[in-house]
Amino acid sequence: MIRAVLTGTGSALPARRVSNAELAEQVDTSDEWIVERTGIRFRHIAGEDETTATLARDAATAAIAAAGLTAGDIDLIVLATATPDNTFPATATKVQAMLGIDDCVAFDVAAVCSGFLYAVQVADSMIRAGAHRRALVIGAETFSRILDWEDRTTCVLFGDGAGAIVLEARDSVDDVADAGARGILATRLHADGRHNGLLYVDGGPSTTGTVGKLRMKGREVFRHAVVNLAAVMEEALQATGLPTDAVDWVVPHQANARILDATARKLSLPSEKVVVTVDQHANTSAASVPLALDQAVRDGRILPGHLVVLEAMGGGFTWGAAIIRM
Ligand code: UT7
Repeated sequence: MIRAVLTGTGSALPARRVSNAELAEQVDTSDEWIVERTGIRFRHIAGEDETTATLARDAATAAIAAAGLTAGDIDLIVLATATPDNTFPATATKVQAMLGIDDCVAFDVAAVCSGFLYAVQVADSMIRAGAHRRALVIGAETFSRILDWEDRTTCVLFGDGAGAIVLEARDSVDDVADAGARGILATRLHADGRHNGLLYVDGGPSTTGTVGKLRMKGREVFRHAVVNLAAVMEEALQATGLPTDAVDWVVPHQANARILDATARKLSLPSEKVVVTVDQHANTSAASVPLALDQAVRDGRILPGHLVVLEAMGGGFTWGAAIIRM
């Protein structure tokens, strides 16, 4: 049986780091409100020469090096973003060109904050079907470009960045629940389009002909997030037959520290097992899970053999979880 094994991670952040105090000089907010309601202290904001594609390229380059590969080894690029460089072509093809890969399959996935989870399931399925052997899965965003910088209820919450992983096809005889079964063990995705109006961008090529700005009814998104995330993590774990206490790390979507706490509590997961980067990066949408994953791998917390749960929820609504043995 073929399994998609994670062999490298990478991430990239814009050079400019912006504190809450700096934002409070532009909009009617305070460091105290932002920290208390969200846990966010800093976010990185892309400069003129930084785009979703350049951040994705840098994260991908780091992931390919960590996997001990060269760019030419990659035969599939799946890039999750809600902030592509252009309406088309897909940002994945721009990254392909930047990496100097002559021929591979490359496309974008749009599922907003859960985009990376969607991209992982797509790449995993294509690898297990035998169509590809070495995939680059990227989450990259420049949400600063779609924020309404006069709306304090949204502009303080988001940041820019990118994260990437390399997935490689490996033959495996181990059952999913065996400790020797490395790779993506289960994924679960959901969408419920009835909630389009709670988190959306008020423009687009086929409606206004403009890019538009992000709009969110935060309190309602919050309520759905805790319920949906706890449910989908349980569902994905159940698919592996592994108990909750077998989980070494949860790498959640980094939207709000209070969502992370509430979700962990719902599943009786100790907070020491939850990777938190929301304080440093804010919400980077599709980039947030691979960014946090790369950080925890590079600082030596997540180790080979560890059982890791990834989860995210965002506009659509869309949400999902993946269980990976590193
Ligand atoms: O990535 C996709 C998923 N997104 C999320 O998961 C976001 C989910 N939602 C949230 O994280 C939270 O709902 C927010 C952080 C967005 C808001 O926190 P909240 O505790 O739900 O606050 P609220 O919206 O109920 O607002 C409370 C008060 C309001 O004032 P009044 O009406 O009570 O007088 C707001 O006007 O806080 C006010 N407020 C602010 N004050 C200072 C809202 N934004 C700010 C701000 N600074 N930036």
